Amino acid sequence: MSDSLRDQYLIPSQPYYRAVHDEVTLYEAAYSVRMPVMLKGPTGCGKTRFVEYMAWKLQKPLITVACNEDMTASDLVGRFLLDANGTRWQDGPLTVAARIGAICYLDEVVEARQDTTVVIHPLTDHRRVLPLEKKGELVSAHPDFQIVISYNPGYQSLMKDLKQSTKQRFGALDFDYPKPEIEAEIIAHESGIGKDLADKLAQIAQRSRNLKGHGLDEGISTRLLVYAGQLVAKGIDAQAACRMALVRPLTDDPDMRDTLDAAINTYF
Ligand SMILES: Nc1ncnc2c1ncn2[C@@H]1O[C@H](COP(=O)(O)OP(=O)(O)OP(=O)(O)O)[C@@H](O)[C@H]1O
Ligand SMILES: [Mg+2]
Repeated sequence: MSDSLRDQYLIPSQPYYRAVHDEVTLYEAAYSVRMPVMLKGPTGCGKTRFVEYMAWKLQKPLITVACNEDMTASDLVGRFLLDANGTRWQDGPLTVAARIGAICYLDEVVEARQDTTVVIHPLTDHRRVLPLEKKGELVSAHPDFQIVISYNPGYQSLMKDLKQSTKQRFGALDFDYPKPEIEAEIIAHESGIGKDLADKLAQIAQRSRNLKGHGLDEGISTRLLVYAGQLVAKGIDAQAACRMALVRPLTDDPDMRDTLDAAINTYF
């Protein structure tokens, strides 16, 4: 397999990742034995950034696949394509990752149907192989290959859950929004705003998270806080930035919007 393909998937420069607990050490230990890893946590809390950082730190290529319910096993492993010279096999992203020794990050894996998800089973146990049934090839995973999946617990219905036989192939790391001091540090770094403002944004998020289950499905994510900071850094007034980045995306309910707007007005 050509090195240029591998190089294409390397993370070129160090991504900013603020470690929150011992996730870096735990992940490194898991990677060292090629344990498949599941990252669990709400939207916008740093899961994708963490994988990018770890891929960079370990100097391994990273191949990310956004999963959805229309995805088939062929979308992961590959398919025959028709071209001028007849048919040609094209590896899917999972196969490419297994061949080049990448970290394969399956984002939102519960969205995929269970008959799609099972193709990762032989890659995530001692066999470390991927059968390409249509092609009649058994790919042995490169020694560097590892699977990482992400998962938002609680968002999916009971119908949409991973089978136990899938879940129990992974070690899992819990992610959550960090405590306000750390979150403020992240917001300040990512948006370039000052500490005072970043602190206020983190506190607003904290308050919104208390409304989870009381009219909000989810509190304001770190991602949205970074957006708000970026708008302010562009000269937008803080209240307007918060309305656009923190309140409007979160809910359509007029009462809840008023509640959040009022909370914001107490800070600015
Ligand atoms: N610990 C962290 N260190 C650095 N940046 C962070 C951290 N946590 C969150 N962020 C910031 O929040 C943004 C959103 O994080 P990320 O995209 O990793 O979320 P996610 O958990 O993958 O969300 P989703 O489940 O929606 O994909 C990042 O782009 C980054 O700016
Ligand atoms: Mg993500």
